[in-house]
Amino acid sequence: MSQRNIIITGGAGFIGSHVVRLFVNNYPHYNIINVDKLTYAGNLANLKDIEDRPNYKFKRLDICDFEDLYQLFQDENIDGVIHLAAESHVDRSIKDPFTFAKTNVMGTLSLLQAAKLYWESRPEGYEGKLFYHISTDEVYGALGFDDTLFTEETKYDPHSPYSASKASSDHFVRAYHDTYGMPTIVTNCSNNYGPYQFPEKLIPLFINNIRTRKPLPVYGNGENIRDWLYVEDHARAIETIFHRGKIADTYNIGGCNEWRNIDLIKVIIATVDRLLGNPEGHSIDLITYVTDRPGHDARYAIDASKLRRELDWQPSLQFEEGIERTVRWYLENEEWMENIISKEYIKYYDEMYGNR
Ligand code: NAD
Ligand code: TYD
Repeated sequence: MSQRNIIITGGAGFIGSHVVRLFVNNYPHYNIINVDKLTYAGNLANLKDIEDRPNYKFKRLDICDFEDLYQLFQDENIDGVIHLAAESHVDRSIKDPFTFAKTNVMGTLSLLQAAKLYWESRPEGYEGKLFYHISTDEVYGALGFDDTLFTEETKYDPHSPYSASKASSDHFVRAYHDTYGMPTIVTNCSNNYGPYQFPEKLIPLFINNIRTRKPLPVYGNGENIRDWLYVEDHARAIETIFHRGKIADTYNIGGCNEWRNIDLIKVIIATVDRLLGNPEGHSIDLITYVTDRPGHDARYAIDASKLRRELDWQPSLQFEEGIERTVRWYLENEEWMENIISKEYIKYYDEMYGNR
């Protein structure tokens, strides 16, 4: 097997940490360089189990810092990029769209440009190189409450500043292929869940609020639908596509697992109550309907048949098992959660790497 030098951006975040772990464990002959700014969402505790591996390196870097990125490509002779670093929370994007444009659009552009300049300077050019961009199904907009699905041909129609910024970054990635011939792949995935997700997102937030007996804020009438995929299944899809995906292609990744928010919330409540030994229905009164998210997309659902057909990937975990594993993990890792809520981890990184 050939040796490779791969940058994984956003490796200290939720999905990125699972991708880094999988590559470090499965490919000892690859050098994995985790490039992460360590924003509020980045937490190196997510990678404790692999941080001392000889094929793993962490580099604290803002993807908007083009010069530093270009230097890193040269120092490490980078031949592959798996790009996950992003601002990722819709609610934050509504309050602070500039940060989303900066990181998701300009950050992606500076990463593309660093890859372009470095790869074009090599005698072999783009041969054996890959820029793999991780995106979201939210770029496709919202579906109605029927049986339609997002396919790779669905027209982009983003509604939130988050999805607009991700859509823009997807366009830049494709433009680098079409204009400069850079080998690129884009994948668009549905909602992920599992261990190490920052507790601003629905599932970890609600597990923690049930544990600490806080209200569960349900936006609007709770009837919005999301398609949920266990994060390790997403990481496996990324592994497959990185190695066998077709250059310049797009793949949708999804769980084939649609839930109305309110039904999902009831499953979470029942699972947490059962695992904590509470009587059935104990936490149901924590449900609190609140003002809807502005522009709240009604329904997301992915048609992942192309990925199944062409690369033989499909989700491995049943939802019941995935949610049980996930709830257990958060309940057994209270310290991880408390550390985030107290913001201790941010102080620690600022002392260690300097405040950026
Ligand atoms: P996350 O918010 O948990 O992690 C993002 C990571 O990026 C953090 O470690 C953060 O420190 C880092 N980062 C942010 N800005 C940076 C910058 N300027 N420079 C360097 N690093 C920076 O996000 P996530 O949920 O793991 O999502 C990862 C990627 O997958 C994103 O691109 C997101 O759009 C995409 N995605 C997420 C989901 C989901 O359900 N979470 C679904 C589909 C696609
Ligand atoms: P979220 O986890 O923020 O992911 P996304 O907005 O990217 O799909 O939210 C998932 C769904 O849950 C979404 O329909 C919004 C809803 N939601 C709530 O009802 N209450 C909450 O507190 C949060 C965070 C989300």
